[in-house]
Amino acid sequence: MTVILVTGGCGFIGSNLVRYLLEVEPEARIVNLDALTYAGNLANLADVAAHPRYQFVRGDVADRQQVWEVMRLGVTDVFHLAAESHVDRSIHDATPFVRTNVLGTQVLLDAARAFGVRRFVQVSTDEVYGSLGPTGAFTEESPLQPNSPYAASKAGADLLVRAYHHTFGVPALITRCSNNYGPYQFPEKLIPLFITNLLQDEPVPVYGDGLQVRDWIHVRDHCRGLHLAWKKGQPGEVYNFGGKCELSNLELTRRLLRLLGKPESLIRFVPDRPGHDRRYAMDCSKAQRELGWSPLIPFEQGLLETIRWYQEHTEWVAAVRNKEYMNYYQRQYGTLRAATTSTRLAAR
Ligand code: NAD
Ligand code: TYD
Repeated sequence: MTVILVTGGCGFIGSNLVRYLLEVEPEARIVNLDALTYAGNLANLADVAAHPRYQFVRGDVADRQQVWEVMRLGVTDVFHLAAESHVDRSIHDATPFVRTNVLGTQVLLDAARAFGVRRFVQVSTDEVYGSLGPTGAFTEESPLQPNSPYAASKAGADLLVRAYHHTFGVPALITRCSNNYGPYQFPEKLIPLFITNLLQDEPVPVYGDGLQVRDWIHVRDHCRGLHLAWKKGQPGEVYNFGGKCELSNLELTRRLLRLLGKPESLIRFVPDRPGHDRRYAMDCSKAQRELGWSPLIPFEQGLLETIRWYQEHTEWVAAVRNKEYMNYYQRQYGTLRAATTSTRLAAR
């Protein structure tokens, strides 16, 4: 019997992946190990909580005893997603990033080795490659040049995965994906933050000049890629996934304003993120060639669906925009209502 451990299954991508795996792997059991940090939310999987092939375990990937207990449930395969995942929070305090992302990955790799798992999929990010100039794209051979504490902790984890494969033969592979969007994303990342603010006619904070470029991919396309990497990928290999959809933050913001019928006066230019990466773009030809994967969901369609999802899930939104969230928001952005540098808009 296949027993798949998904770590971080109560987060954004993890919850979408659990649902996807239950659909496409009708014989497999799915165990979700999640610590339920601020980003973990049981409501993300409320619809499958009672599914006969699904089991939730609350626990910390960096806690060896808890991980061993979960492995004893008969785990045969691992998708490792549990992480501290937000660049801005890693700038405030890198400590939980190193603990969860680096130490947690090492504990899981030890467990994968001790229990002889069949496949270990390390879910990583394009941010480990650093930043690009105006042209070109990251390939799997691009050097690791992480610029934020978040990216550095993910690169550290990826290097441990590589080393455990090389030294101990752990059948692990690494996937690196560009910026995801879609349902159940916590509103600290650009797209859900801006949608949820705009739905309340609140301003949206654009860092710096807003000309940084990200490559957007729908979370369902990412989940399909993860499943294919698990099925067809080779241990020791790296696979890039991206959405073939490069947009500057300002272009994306304007698109969101248009789709929601909101005025440009809601844009607030706020001080730039320290060390802000200018541009990410992914060359996914290896995943296309070796896994038969390419992104399928057009951005226009995915973005509209995502907006609709946030419009329809008002209770979910209200519950995550709680006091703790508002404290974070206040610390990160101050009071956006005060006029900032929106006059710069006039120059564009
Ligand atoms: P998320 O922040 O929404 O979810 C992270 C989950 O991990 C949460 O449920 C949280 O409770 C859990 N978690 C945190 N620390 C834990 C610990 N010590 N033990 C157990 N569980 C813990 O993140 P996400 O956006 O869903 O990202 C998931 C993974 O995908 C991460 O590894 C991230 O680096 C990677 N990734 C994300 C993106 C993206 O655009 N969001 C892109 C590429 C790769
Ligand atoms: P984010 O969603 O945090 O993802 P990442 O930093 O992992 O790419 O940010 C996406 C882009 O949007 C990034 O260039 C930073 C920018 N951004 C803003 O301009 N304002 C914001 O409030 C946030 C959260 C992000």
